Amino acid sequence: MKRMFALLAFGLVASSPGLAVAQDADAGAKVFNQCKACHTIEAGGPNRVGPNLHGVVGRKAGSVETYKYSDAMKNAGPWDEATLDAYLADPKSAVPGNKMAFAGVKNEQARKDLIAYLKKNS
Ligand code: HEC
Repeated sequence: MKRMFALLAFGLVASSPGLAVAQDADAGAKVFNQCKACHTIEAGGPNRVGPNLHGVVGRKAGSVETYKYSDAMKNAGPWDEATLDAYLADPKSAVPGNKMAFAGVKNEQARKDLIAYLKKNS
């Protein structure tokens, strides 16, 4: 059911933003577009360049068993809203040596919306 909701929300956001279900997740889903080249979010989704992110809020960093993390990432986390906020603001400084080639989301509101979206999918 949760998954259905996520997929539905995603589809609505993609096709008609005016029909968005929940405001934060709506905005966050758009921010997540920046992540989709490397990450899937749905339960059981495949790893891409980066690991599947379903359930990332509240889990230990580096814990998707089918994904080969850097040692830096295996020793980071656990992921909660604060550690995710710091990591997504500036991945390189928050987890030195991690291999996510992404500059970060500098806008604080965008990060909050993004984390709300990740939570909805956790
Ligand atoms: C260019 C590819 C790329 C992009 C774009 C990217 N990531 Fe990543 N991400 C990675 C890689 C690679 C890792 C694994 C890092 C490691 O093992 O050192 C990772 C790891 C992560 C982790 C840790 C996951 C875990 O299981 O511990 C989170 C959280 C994350 N990314 C979130 C995001 C979010 C949110 C975005 C968009 C704002 C994003 N990433 C954009 C490649 C990317």
